[in-house]
Amino acid sequence: MSRTIFKKEKWNYLLATFATLYPNLVRCDAAENWQVGFQDPATPIMEGVINLHHDLMFFLWVVLVFVTWMLLRTLWHFTYTQNPIASLSNHGTLIEIIWTTTPALILLIIAIPSFSLLYAMDEIISPAITIKTLGHQWYWSYEYSDYMNQSDEFLTFDSYMIPEDELELGQLRLLEVDNHVVVPTNTHIRIIVSAADVLHSWAVPSLGIKCDAIPGRLNQTSMFIKREGLYYGQCSEICGVNHGFMPIVIESVSLPNYVTWIYNKLLNQ
Ligand code: CUA
Repeated sequence: MSRTIFKKEKWNYLLATFATLYPNLVRCDAAENWQVGFQDPATPIMEGVINLHHDLMFFLWVVLVFVTWMLLRTLWHFTYTQNPIASLSNHGTLIEIIWTTTPALILLIIAIPSFSLLYAMDEIISPAITIKTLGHQWYWSYEYSDYMNQSDEFLTFDSYMIPEDELELGQLRLLEVDNHVVVPTNTHIRIIVSAADVLHSWAVPSLGIKCDAIPGRLNQTSMFIKREGLYYGQCSEICGVNHGFMPIVIESVSLPNYVTWIYNKLLNQ
C-alpha cells in the first residue's frame, strides 16, 4: 500500500515539474488540496477576475506597508519613555484633508476596473446555445432547450456525483459526475439557473461563474470557453446534508464533437 502511495507521489512530482515547464499544456481546472490561489482561467471573465485581483493586491500591499510603518513609527516615537512631555496639539487641517481624500481617491481608482468587470459579467452576448440547469437535493439536472428529439422532447439529463467506491483511476474524488455538461469552445453560451427545492449555487471557478439557484426564480449567466478541457465546480450554497456531494463537470469540446454528442444524445434519449 505504502509503495503505491510513494509511486503516486512521484508521479505527482513529475506532473508538477511538467506543469511548470509547459504551463500551456497542463492546467489546473479543479480544486486541489490546500490550494490558495485561483484555478487557471478558461473564459475571458475569469481572466478579468484574476487581473482585478492582482490590481487590488497592489493597492492592498501599498496600504498595508504604509499603515504598518506609520503604526510602528508612532509606537516607537511616542511611547512614554521616548516622549515624556506630550504635545497638546489636537488638530491639523491639512493632514486631515490628506488622510480623508487619499483613501477616497484609492477607492475611486479601484472602482473603475471593478465596475467594468461587473458589467462585463452581467452581459449576455447573443448566445448560440441556452442550457437550463436546476439544482436538486442533491444533484444537478440539465436541459438543452435548443434541441428536440423525435418525440418533441428537450434534451435533458441528471448529473450525479460518482461515489468514492465507484471511482475509476484518475477520477477526482467528490468532483466527478456521471453525466458531463458538454459544450463547444469559442461559443457564447447562456446558462439559466434555478432550483427545484432549496437554494443551491452553480459555481465553476475556472469559468468565473457562481450563480445562485433559487426556487421560483430564473437567474442567467453566460460563458465563453476558450479552450477544450474538463472544468470542475461544486454547489456553493449550503443546501442540506449532501451539499458537498453535488459537483458540476463541464466538458468543453470542439464544435464538430459537440454536434456529434448532441446527435447521439438525442438519438438515445
Ligand atoms: Cu446544492 Cu449546496
